[in-house]
Formats: sequence, structure tokens, C-alpha cells
Amino acid sequence: MEFEKVIKERFSTRKFSDKKVEKEKLEKILEAARLAPTAKNMQAFKIYVVESKEGLKAIDEATKCRFNSSTVLVICGDKEKGYYHGDHSFIDIDTSIITTHMMLAATNVGVNNIWIGNFEPDLLKEKLNIPDNLIPVIVMPLGYKTDDFKPSPMHTTRKNIEELVEYR
Ligand SMILES: Cc1cc2nc3c(=O)[nH]c(=O)nc-3n(C[C@H](O)[C@H](O)[C@H](O)COP(=O)(O)O)c2cc1C
Repeated sequence: MEFEKVIKERFSTRKFSDKKVEKEKLEKILEAARLAPTAKNMQAFKIYVVESKEGLKAIDEATKCRFNSSTVLVICGDKEKGYYHGDHSFIDIDTSIITTHMMLAATNVGVNNIWIGNFEPDLLKEKLNIPDNLIPVIVMPLGYKTDDFKPSPMHTTRKNIEELVEYR
């Protein structure tokens, strides 16, 4: 897909059908994460692909926002190996870039997605047996929207460019 079209076509999906994400598509999405830039190229992240019944149950315990997806990514930053500028950790930034790459890569191959920040990280860590050094930053359900799902009005609510950008 042409790049501008990918950006325009992406929207948050909040109702997924039972159709599974094909392995080849999932691999393309994950490859987009691998190629993403990270601070000092530390690549201090781990992505858990959650597809098992027990794993999806754990997601449901940690968030209300799975929306029936059967492939959920949990994107974690490594607080021990990630880059710090003084006291400031870059793992939130790194994981956000990685996730943005994956959102756009998913859209490019026709896989719907949503960025979820509203979840209980400690509960998710415990339920998915995630090591202490890894911090779950983002949960991203993937899949195919149901026929009746329409993007929320927020999708088209954007400020004007003049409000967001100043030239100095
Ligand atoms: C950092 C971040 C956190 C978000 N967390 C949630 C969330 O927890 N639940 C949810 O339904 N949507 C969540 N969203 C999706 C936003 O609500 C959505 O991107 C925004 O309303 C614009 O709509 P659009 O993605 O359809 O264009 C999140 C998006 C971002 C970037």
C-alpha cells in the first residue's frame, strides 16, 4: 500500500471478528518492530505474542480492551538494558516507536489493530510470567474488524495543522 494511504487508512478497532491473523502477516508485523529505531540502538524490548486460551484469559484479567481479538501483542521495555539519559529511561519512547511501526505494518497488510494503554501492568506481568526487568508498556490487539464496526468519531476529530505546528 502507498505510505500516505496506510496512514489515512489506520484506525482503532474495538470489535474484532473470530478470523485469525495469518502467520505470514504476523511475521511481517513483527519484522517491522525489529527494524524500528531505538535509543542508542539498544533494542531493549520484548514482544509477547499472546494467542493461547490461558494467555488471552490473562489479557482479559488485565484489561477490558481485548475486543475479541485472538492475537494480542504485549510490548515490553527492558528497564535494565534500555538506554537512560541521566535518570530518564527511554523505554516508553522505544516501545512507542516499535508499536507505531507495527500498527502501520499491520494496516499495510490489512490487519486491524488498536493501541491499548489502559491495562494493569503488574497483573499482566504476573499472569503471563513476564520477568522482572521487562515492563509491559503497550497492549496491541490485532485481527479483523467485524462487518458492523465503524471507527469512533474520535478517529476523524483532529485539530487544524495551524494549532499543532508553529514555524519560528
Ligand atoms: C498512547 C495511547 C493509548 C491508548 N489507549 C487506549 C485504550 O486504553 N483504550 C482504547 O480503547 N483506545 C486507546 N487508544 C486509542 C485512541 O483512543 C485512539 O488512537 C484515538 O482516539 C484516535 O482514534 P483513531 O486511532 O481511531 O484514529 C490509545 C492510543 C494511544 C496512542
